Amino acid sequence: MTEKMTVTPWEVKGEIDYYKLIKEFGTEPLTDELIARLKRHTKDLHLLLRRKMFFSHRDFGWILDEYEKDNKFYLYTGRGPSGHTHLGHLIPWFLTKWLQDKFKAKLYFQLTDDEKFLFNPKLSIEDTQKFAYENTLDIIALGFDQKRTFVFSDINYAKTLYKEALKVAKKLTFSTTKAVFGFTSESNVGQIFFTSMQSVPCFLESIKAGKNVPCLIPLAIDQDPHFRITRDIAPKLGYYKPAIIHSKFLPGLGKGGKMSASEPDTCIFTTDSQEQIDRKISNAFTGGAATIKEQKEKGGNPDICSVYQYYYFVFEPDDKKVKELKEKCKAGKIMCGECKKELASRIKKFMAEHQKKREQAKKVIDKFILSD
Ligand code: TYM
Repeated sequence: MTEKMTVTPWEVKGEIDYYKLIKEFGTEPLTDELIARLKRHTKDLHLLLRRKMFFSHRDFGWILDEYEKDNKFYLYTGRGPSGHTHLGHLIPWFLTKWLQDKFKAKLYFQLTDDEKFLFNPKLSIEDTQKFAYENTLDIIALGFDQKRTFVFSDINYAKTLYKEALKVAKKLTFSTTKAVFGFTSESNVGQIFFTSMQSVPCFLESIKAGKNVPCLIPLAIDQDPHFRITRDIAPKLGYYKPAIIHSKFLPGLGKGGKMSASEPDTCIFTTDSQEQIDRKISNAFTGGAATIKEQKEKGGNPDICSVYQYYYFVFEPDDKKVKELKEKCKAGKIMCGECKKELASRIKKFMAEHQKKREQAKKVIDKFILSD
C-alpha cells in the first residue's frame, strides 16, 4: 500500500498528487495562458516554467495586472537553516533569480534561524545561525543582484521584524494555527507564534516604501500554508495579499519522496565532494530493468526514474535532447550506467563552479546582509 500523502512546511511524505494538492490547498493551476502572458514580458521562459516544475499559484495574474499598470512587484523567498543547502532548495531560488533578472525586482531573502531552533529539538541557536551563514553563501553563489538583494536572519534583524510580526500575531488565533498546522497543547509557544515572523517580509517593502507594493513569492508548495494565513491577515493590516508561485518537489535519489536532508544518501548537498556525488548518483534508483538483457529488450521506465527527473528538471536544458533521452531509454538504447555517469559528470561540473562561487561569496557577504 502506498503511504498517505502528507505535505506540511515541516514534513513531506507519501506519493505526491499535485492536482489533489491544488484542490486541498485551494490554489490555482499555473495555466499555459498565464505562462504565455508572463512570456510577453520576459521574451523567453525558464526551464522550470517550460517543464511545468512550477505548476500552481495564488494571484499570479494579479501580479501581472499590476505590473502592466506600472505597479511593480518585489520578490520574497527564504530558507530554514537547519543544515547545508541541497539541490531541491535551489529549485525555487533558480526561478527567483531569473525573475529578478527579468523584472529588475528587489528580493528579500529570509533565513528563519528562529524557526529551525524552535522546531528542531537537536539544533541550538548557534547551529541555526551557523547554517544561516552557510546557506547565504549558496544564495550569493547563484548570482543574485547585489544591489537588489537583501538577506537577513530573523534573529539578527529582529528589531525591524518583531514589531511587524506582533501586528500579525495579534490577528492570528491559536485555533487557526491548530487548524492549519495541527499544533496541539504540547507544541511549544514559539512554534505557534512563528508564522507571524514568516509573514513579515510579505509587507516589508510596503513598510519601507510607505505605500503598498505587490509581493511575489516563489517557493515549493510545502511552504504555502504559512502564506494562506498571511493572505487572510494582510488586508486586515491594510496590505495587499502576497502572490505565490508554487513548485513541485525535486525528488531524492531513492525510490519516490522529495529530496530531503533527512535522507543524506539520496540528497545532493552543495557542499558534497566530487566523490560523494559520484557515489550518490551511482546508487540512485532508476527505471531500469532487472538485467541489461531485459532492459535492451523491453526498455526502461523514465517516468519512475529519479535520474531522468534530474535531467528533465535541471540538467538537460535542451528540449529536443531531453525528449530524445526519454525515447532512447524507453527503446532500451541507453543503459542506466551510462545515463548515471553522464548525469554525475554534469552535476559535478555544476557543483565545482558553484563551490568556487561560494568561496568568493565570503568576501562580499556583508553587502547582502540586513541586520539591526
Ligand atoms: P526550507 O529551508 O525547508 O526550504 C527552502 C525552499 O526550498 C523549497 N524546497 C524544495 N523545492 C523543491 N524541491 C525540494 N525537494 C525542496 N525542498 C525544499 C521550499 O519550499 C522552500 O521554498 N520556513 C522556510 C523558510 C522561509 C521561506 C520563506 C521559504 C522563510 N520565508 C518564504 C519560502 C518562501 C523553510 O524552512 O524552507
